[in-house]
Amino acid sequence: MNYQVVYFSRSGNSKRVAEKVAQQLGVPLIQIDDHKWWKGPIGYIRAGFYATVDKKVKITLSKPLQDDTLCIVVSPLWAGDTAPAVRAFFKLFPKEKSHLIVTSIGSTISKRENYISVTDVVKRNENEDEVIHHFIKEIKI
Ligand SMILES: Cc1cc2nc3c(=O)[nH]c(=O)nc-3n(C[C@H](O)[C@H](O)[C@H](O)COP(=O)(O)O)c2cc1C
Repeated sequence: MNYQVVYFSRSGNSKRVAEKVAQQLGVPLIQIDDHKWWKGPIGYIRAGFYATVDKKVKITLSKPLQDDTLCIVVSPLWAGDTAPAVRAFFKLFPKEKSHLIVTSIGSTISKRENYISVTDVVKRNENEDEVIHHFIKEIKI
């Protein structure tokens, strides 16, 4: 099976996880850009607001998506859900053809329907590499 790794990241955690997965699978890495400024305390508050009220963002991808390829999508958890940029991505590409990986501090995503699989990389558990290793092993079967 062919894969491409697609990610959005505000502070680098989802980027790091996406890079590890893409590198270990030897597949393309595509960044989602929503052209918003999420940095600093104001950006954090804005991010919480966007996530909570489900405010829409427009996105671009760093590379075109490959046809007939499944996606591994890496998103931070924002207020219990994927980031708005990732929600926008799933308007373009079906969840049914995507594995979702969610990075977070301590909690996990509740909306787990329709994806091929959902994997939680929770910082508090300090097992990022183990979770990635297990994920890669499972999708290679
Ligand atoms: C607006 C906002 C909301 C967040 N909400 C949650 C949450 O509900 N649960 C949680 O465990 N972490 C939450 N976090 C922490 C991030 O999910 C976590 O730090 C993630 O790994 C960040 O990924 P990134 O570095 O790729 O942006 C939130 C962070 C932000 C900015």
